[in-house]
Amino acid sequence: MLNEPHEFEALSVRKELTPEQMLGVIFEYTGKIANERNIENVLILMANMGREMVVADRCSVWLIDERTNELFTTVAHGVKEIRIPLNSGLVGMAVATGKPVFIDDAYTNTEYRNILEKGALTVDKQTGYRTKAMMVVPFRNNEGHVIGAYQAINKMTESGVFSGQDLEYLKLAANYSGKSIEAVRLQQEIEETQKEIIFTMGEIGESRSKETGNHVKRVAEYSYVLALGSGMSEEEAERLKLASPMHDIGKVAIPDAVLQKPGKLTDEEYEMMKSHTTIGYNLLKNSRRDLLRTAAIVAHQHHEKWNGTGYPNGLAGEEIHIYGRITAVADVFDALGSERVYKKAWELDRILNLFREERGRHFDPKLVDVFIQQLPRLLEIRDKYKDVDGDIF
Ligand code: C2E
Ligand code: SIN
Ligand code: SIN
Ligand code: FE
Ligand code: FE
Repeated sequence: MLNEPHEFEALSVRKELTPEQMLGVIFEYTGKIANERNIENVLILMANMGREMVVADRCSVWLIDERTNELFTTVAHGVKEIRIPLNSGLVGMAVATGKPVFIDDAYTNTEYRNILEKGALTVDKQTGYRTKAMMVVPFRNNEGHVIGAYQAINKMTESGVFSGQDLEYLKLAANYSGKSIEAVRLQQEIEETQKEIIFTMGEIGESRSKETGNHVKRVAEYSYVLALGSGMSEEEAERLKLASPMHDIGKVAIPDAVLQKPGKLTDEEYEMMKSHTTIGYNLLKNSRRDLLRTAAIVAHQHHEKWNGTGYPNGLAGEEIHIYGRITAVADVFDALGSERVYKKAWELDRILNLFREERGRHFDPKLVDVFIQQLPRLLEIRDKYKDVDGDIF
């Protein structure tokens, strides 16, 4: 295995960091961690920070999963996490006792013999790795509960053992990690809540107009497929998917007599109806959150038309935000295929004809092409979330 860079590096002797280098490492990693929203990436960054600080060969950050009574860690980007039972190994012990574990040589250590034989030494036999020095430092959340542990293996300097100073450094990193992980978890919780609120608001908007319950769901899924198909990144497409259920939120302010009128609207009623775009926009525009800003654009612009004849602002072409152009296709595709108080559902052929006719008129021509390309997936969605009789909010 000597030709693998990592193993090769493992053989070379390194030096302790100078104070300047130590500060450099801390600033670099704390900066990256502060900007990271994904808990797996936080674990990787923290492990790398700890490894550099104490000049270890390997470092892992373990977290407790309370639902499954396991410890888990992430070793690399895109690699599935590793899980072990909560009470196993020296990590399990450090987490259970809340005290650090410190070993100079796993092969001669007597204090933790049993645990080492069941854990690290067995793993070494399988992998050919030689665990010598080990240090495990538990860390806590803001309430003082142990939520995980740092594990550093093999000191890469000439001394080959971790020092009291290393322990202090790893405690520092652990203290910071506990707080960061809690912040990331809290952030995730906030985002989950935000998504739920947005989806529910979208449903409320639809229920006022007696549109069937799955309309918002379908428009969200169609928008996602069209966004990806037009080359948008996964992250942005996901955001559009979450925001698009809000496109008609402004309908909450339209009187029932107009919204639920069985027949054609008068000019005056239609003018009132059109205001659902600006009403929705005004409800959402003051938020600084990306998700709600996206929703504001969608609410505002989903009835603009490529040739400039839409409302509320008569924007044309790329003056219309791509989010507005995408949800326009998704919304009309769904509206035509669904029964409304004022119309019957259309056959697919008739819908496709309309999209061909309106290519470059109502709709962005490129998006109509994406729409045609993605039709099989769109129809799958339509089928999966089809309206069931009586499924009306
Ligand atoms: P919606 O029902 O969700 O329809 C969204 C869009 O789908 C419409 O925007 C329109 O572009 C397209 N669409 C829906 N049905 C038809 C159709 O039968 N033919 C054609 N060519 N396109 C159709 P639009 O027209 O700006 O309407 C916005 C909203 O105003 C509609 O949302 C609906 O809530 C309401 N609305 C529109 N026309 C009528 C009507 O005649 N009667 C009633 N009660 N409401 C209407
Ligand atoms: C929000 O954006 O969701 C409200 C609070 C804020 O502006 O950050
Ligand atoms: C809007 O007016 O709908 C938002 C404008 C934009 O950010 O593109
Ligand atoms: Fe609308
Ligand atoms: Fe709609």
